[in-house]
Amino acid sequence: MQEDLKPQIDPSRLPEHVAIIMDGNGRWAQEKGEDRLFGHFHGVESVRNIVEGAAELGIGYLTLYAFSTENWDRPANEVAGLMSLLVDTIRKEVPTLNKNNIRLQVIGDRQMLPDFAQTELEEALELTAGNTGLTLIMALSYSSRWEIINAVKQIALDVQAGSLDPQLITQDTFADYLCTKGIPDPALVIRTSGEFRISNFLLYQLAYAELYFTPILWPDFRKAHLNEAILDFQQRERRFGKTGKQIQEEDKV
Ligand code: IPE
Ligand code: IPE
Ligand code: MG
Repeated sequence: MQEDLKPQIDPSRLPEHVAIIMDGNGRWAQEKGEDRLFGHFHGVESVRNIVEGAAELGIGYLTLYAFSTENWDRPANEVAGLMSLLVDTIRKEVPTLNKNNIRLQVIGDRQMLPDFAQTELEEALELTAGNTGLTLIMALSYSSRWEIINAVKQIALDVQAGSLDPQLITQDTFADYLCTKGIPDPALVIRTSGEFRISNFLLYQLAYAELYFTPILWPDFRKAHLNEAILDFQQRERRFGKTGKQIQEEDKV
């Protein structure tokens, strides 16, 4: 593995929210002549390592895209295997989450999950709700278009019920109807496995996110790779539509 760039990271300029599209488990397994589930199984090691790395750095929010709405269309044995793995992992990790003061949250269409998964999740959410360190957000049965349509339906219902005035809808109002209510937008998005796409992930929230793509397959992704991505982020100039000169002057104040 490459040199760990952690000492070069400026702790005062960390991305408050990092989101990761964890991709490449299947190809990792295939390279080893193994079943796709073998790749998912090893992907859990990376999840542990990255959650720990993010907490050590002092990142506020880490979102992990674990299962998309579209992933329900995969072969039944892969879906079932992934569900048991997710539930098993969450159950086993609760004590570690509590020990490290990590609060678990979930975004996505939870009703699509099998009953046993819903029950386990509720329990883990409750058991970690009081933690005040890193917020770990698992995107499960999540897709951004599902989330946006869901928000629009809720808004329509509130307008119909007379509790929301359409004239007063702002970007903040809309954000409050999304699953990510109360969570700052991701500043940095990482996608592993060399794919250059967003795959229906946080389309609204990523408006000004910095995108980072790496060819590393998810089961090989470790803290040192996360640190490399964060350092890359810190070398970028985020302009939010302004000119570079304006940003440099703002930074001087
Ligand atoms: C990411 O790895 C995990 C999930 C989407 C659940 P993949 O399973 O997509 O792996 P590849 O892209 O086929 O290699
Ligand atoms: C995106 O990966 C979803 C997750 C990482 C959970 P996919 O492997 O499902 O994405 P596509 O199909 O290659 O775009
Ligand atoms: Mg994939």
